[in-house]
Amino acid sequence: MNAPAPSSALLPDTAGLVLRPVVSGDIERERAFIAGLSAQSRYFRRLGAANHQPTAERLARLTRPIPGREYAVAAVDDEGRGCFIGVARYALLSMQTIGLIEAEMAAVVTDAWHRQGVGRQLVQQAIAAAGAQGIAILHGDILTGNIAGIALARSLGFTIAPHPDGASLRLASLDLRSQGTPRHPV
Ligand SMILES: CC(C)(COP(=O)(O)OP(=O)(O)OC[C@H]1O[C@@H](n2cnc3c(N)ncnc32)[C@H](O)[C@@H]1OP(=O)(O)O)[C@@H](O)C(=O)NCCC(=O)NCCS
Repeated sequence: MNAPAPSSALLPDTAGLVLRPVVSGDIERERAFIAGLSAQSRYFRRLGAANHQPTAERLARLTRPIPGREYAVAAVDDEGRGCFIGVARYALLSMQTIGLIEAEMAAVVTDAWHRQGVGRQLVQQAIAAAGAQGIAILHGDILTGNIAGIALARSLGFTIAPHPDGASLRLASLDLRSQGTPRHPV
């Protein structure tokens, strides 16, 4: 695994971790990261059952974000083997409200690093990237029982609303037009 150079060391409270974009050389890191998640984290991230590993095709998709349509940022253990500690990503939604560019986002942090600020920094980085890209609204589908996911979203300014697909989900939404991020059209 050739490690791409970290783009930034953005985690002052989490020594040894850096944030950097996910790139095509990360297939093995992404595979190991997903394989190492607990059953609950996989369930909450809606990655399927623990014994279902992503296909090679899916891993390739996860590590080759389509420029302008997809974004993925990883927190990487820069002092160790370059392992992924967490990943946040978003993808433009194909069904857009007229005139608005919307994207769906998700994040997951490896269990041993929960509650140490990694998820917050990953999602903040994705929000900044989305704002700079000219995305108007970020959405996230969060399972109703996912207390950590809902609390994280709420703490970053997302509104939490009933989901059109039913009571098992909540719809988290963040309107970036009200944020101060410099914006460049997609
Ligand atoms: C949700 C998730 C990404 C949070 O990551 P994390 O690195 O543990 O979160 P952070 O340490 O950055 O916490 C940020 C804030 O989120 C909230 N939060 C996080 N975990 C929480 C928990 N278990 N209970 C209550 N609030 C929680 C708190 O407001 C916290 O701020 P605080 O620590 O100052 O109180 C992580 O729990 C995870 O990977 N879960 C499985 C996947 C998932 O649920 N993804 C979300 C849906 S896609």
